Amino acid sequence: MPTIDRPHFPPARRRPARRAPPPDRARGTPAPHGERVLFATTEMADFVKAGGLGDVSSALPRALAREHDVRVLLPGYRAVVHGGRPLRIVGRTRPHHELPACAVGELRLRDGLCVLVLCNEALYERDGSPYVDAQGREWSDNDLRFATFSHAAAEIAAGRAGLPWRPDLLHLNDWPGALAACYLDWRGDRVPSVLTIHNLAYQGVFAPGCRSRLGIPERAAEFGTRRSLSFLKGGLANASHLTTVSETYARQITEPAHGCGLDAVLRKRMAEGRLTGIVNGIDASWDASRDPALWSPFAVGEWTRRRANGREVRAELGLLPGDGPLFAVVSRIVQQKGLDMICEAAPQLVAAGGQLALIGRGEPALERRTAALAQRFPGRVAYWHGFDGGLARRMFAGADFLLMPSRYEPCGLSQMYAQAYGCLPLAHATGGLRDTIEDGVTGLLFPDASVGSLRHGLQRAFRVFAEPMLLGAMRGAAMLEQHGWEEPGRRYAELYRRILPRQAAA
Ligand code: GLC
Repeated sequence: MPTIDRPHFPPARRRPARRAPPPDRARGTPAPHGERVLFATTEMADFVKAGGLGDVSSALPRALAREHDVRVLLPGYRAVVHGGRPLRIVGRTRPHHELPACAVGELRLRDGLCVLVLCNEALYERDGSPYVDAQGREWSDNDLRFATFSHAAAEIAAGRAGLPWRPDLLHLNDWPGALAACYLDWRGDRVPSVLTIHNLAYQGVFAPGCRSRLGIPERAAEFGTRRSLSFLKGGLANASHLTTVSETYARQITEPAHGCGLDAVLRKRMAEGRLTGIVNGIDASWDASRDPALWSPFAVGEWTRRRANGREVRAELGLLPGDGPLFAVVSRIVQQKGLDMICEAAPQLVAAGGQLALIGRGEPALERRTAALAQRFPGRVAYWHGFDGGLARRMFAGADFLLMPSRYEPCGLSQMYAQAYGCLPLAHATGGLRDTIEDGVTGLLFPDASVGSLRHGLQRAFRVFAEPMLLGAMRGAAMLEQHGWEEPGRRYAELYRRILPRQAAA
């Protein structure tokens, strides 16, 4: 069983308290020498978000816009088209096989960031999330919806959509944008592309019959098997460079255990030096000393002020006042995140004097199990079914520990939000969790995705909680951790520079 290490503070990790973010320098305005980048994404927290991709797509383009001329390409969901911002039509894509023609609109966000909107009412203006209907069922025409999106990204990149602006590079995200790299290749357009994998388990797999309607040429061999067709697999083979959202996950996905059947192609891309791990950042709004969502904002060391948040969030969630540790879960309620393990370990947590607060929605069976847990332990376990960004922030500020027993985790953002608010993550040492949590210093890691390993982790957490000096030192270390977008932004910019000349010489 792991022991509790005394926190140590190597000098490099000791940094001054978080400073205010730099002034809004030239956001969205072309930097004089920066590359022109089209960032194609199907979620952006400003409008619509299903998971972490939404947060990343809101923050990363802004970080890049300090140096580059970045435009975001987003499907014209209802929230985008009718969100109250003026939309100007600036281009048009032509039909391709059964992919319909679309108008390309442009809107500017308050900070100047430019968003290109792919407008097609029938495809994108629907109730529900980007990928599923209001009942949680995948849209039956997702192949057409996201092939149209990918094709449009490629057409804009190739200068065929009538826009006065043309990117030097296409930055794609996950399976819904992955085919863009293929359309470019099939047409011989030599625009470099970066494809970022946020979660390899979601691949966009469709029946091979969709080939002709999506305009996939017969000669295209990158999809391999004839039985099904994976958008992501096509993108992995054709993008100029692949990234994923942590260094550990980049290594893990080249192995069969985490490769989701695509490890061979990923090993090949890594051997070519074309697969890079870059850990995500969190945006500057995650500042416990100035967050308007909190009852009692606090800085490092102001633990009395912090405790007030613990009292308030207990009351808000209907938990009893208590002196024991409060554990939070801010997550999609899905198997990947280990919610089943949390449900199994929860009685022990409660018996030891802890409390548990969960927020999120996801797989119906797991939601039911989570709700049953809250019913079994009233005042000790609370489950908020849904999502409320303000409440999530108050949970990070009021809870003592954040549970993340994810079976795998490409990056994870919640652990970094928690650290910024002095809530110590207790997490499975995998993927980005391993890269962002220093065990015994800025959180606690346990080695296996198993209930036994989680239980040992919980015992360690109780012991840390019983030592106020240690707890305070770890909270402070977590809050001083720098997880801003500056460093990831710099690494993406470096990557862009690296692949542009290479491509030009090819
Ligand atoms: C996905 C991953 C998560 C990552 C996020 C943003 O949701 O599951 O680990 O943090 O994408 O990259």
